[in-house]
Amino acid sequence: MNFTEATLARFANEVAKYPADQKQSAVMACLAIVQQEQGHVSTESEDAIAAVLGMPPIAVHEVTTFYNMYNQQPVGRFKLNVCTNLPCQLRDGEKALQHLCSRLGVEPYGTSADGRFTVQPSECLGACADAPVMLVNDRQMLSFMSPERLDELVETLKSQG
Ligand code: FES
Repeated sequence: MNFTEATLARFANEVAKYPADQKQSAVMACLAIVQQEQGHVSTESEDAIAAVLGMPPIAVHEVTTFYNMYNQQPVGRFKLNVCTNLPCQLRDGEKALQHLCSRLGVEPYGTSADGRFTVQPSECLGACADAPVMLVNDRQMLSFMSPERLDELVETLKSQG
């Protein structure tokens, strides 16, 4: 995998924020850049980032797999992460996940046939008091996701294309 000059320049901009001997500190930013440009972070991209930052590929992979926000495979236009950690589980988080999957005709981690929706379970999103919670496209947090609110969300997102 060879990154474009433009991508390498974006990496360099992030690396410049850290001391010269700590350029691996830019790994999360570089992963985010790759995902923004390619939609997901492939193993080949991880290896290439590792080479740029002078760190072991496994160390990059550990970061990619630790955070839900990094997609390890292509996802739909709307990525729906439903928290299934214990506090959300106690407030029907698993049911929320199953409701969403059934509504969209996908399995957990699957993408709808039209390519619009990817549904996946998620680790704690840090809003346990609002359980069950979910995250849309890694940015929009939604609270108290009852089946009715999930249905409303699906209709709203479908109307957006
Ligand atoms: S357990 Fe769901 S937000 Fe913390």
